[in-house]
Amino acid sequence: MTTEDPDEAARRLAAVSLAADDPTGWFERLYAAAADGAAVVPWDRGAPHPLLVDWAEGRDLAGSALVVGFGPGFDAEFLAARGATTTAFDVSPSALTAVRGRFPGSPVDYRTADLLAPPQELRHAFGLVLEVMTVQSMPPQFHPPATASVAGFVAPGGTLLVITMVADTPPEDGPPWPLTRAEIDAFGQDGLTPVAVERLENRWRAEFRRD
Ligand SMILES: C[S@@+](CC[C@H](N)C(=O)[O-])C[C@H]1O[C@@H](n2cnc3c(N)ncnc32)[C@H](O)[C@@H]1O
Repeated sequence: MTTEDPDEAARRLAAVSLAADDPTGWFERLYAAAADGAAVVPWDRGAPHPLLVDWAEGRDLAGSALVVGFGPGFDAEFLAARGATTTAFDVSPSALTAVRGRFPGSPVDYRTADLLAPPQELRHAFGLVLEVMTVQSMPPQFHPPATASVAGFVAPGGTLLVITMVADTPPEDGPPWPLTRAEIDAFGQDGLTPVAVERLENRWRAEFRRD
């Protein structure tokens, strides 16, 4: 087992990818190293995000849901357990292998896909789209196309929930590259309108709807 600080190790891997003009390759290297016990996934909370659990309380989540950048998989499993027919994608094949091992028999349709080149069949296809800290895991120049992709997954009448870290001013060094208020507002595109944008200490929780 590694003794390196998980955040430092992630930044070191990211720096190599970014120097090669590859914004996402380091995720695969991190998950592959974690599978070998040579790294720790820093965002593995071992539980669904508390702001998601809080948001979901008392809501009927039956219907289709999409989890963007599923990571350790706990948010996708949570939505499925709450009755959502859940699809979830991540750019890393090793993340996919890890969730399938962690949640054998899961009803979630886990798959690999790249938010920067989203599969056309996911467009306007989901009643609930959940994005937790995926856009912020890429450098700021990738935020506009990633944001447009996320918004594009929401079906007519559907909801987008975004949970991410707050940046008061555009961040320079990362990962992560937390989102400014203007970047949160940018999810309100392609027919999506804001329902609630909350700043909860150092997190945004923002809900949008497509009428
Ligand atoms: C900071 S982690 C957050 C994971 C998860 N959403 C959570 O909150 O635990 C970002 C995740 O997004 C994935 N990811 C990053 N860029 C992506 C992209 N372009 N397309 C799909 N997944 C991506 C990474 O592999 C990683 O699992």
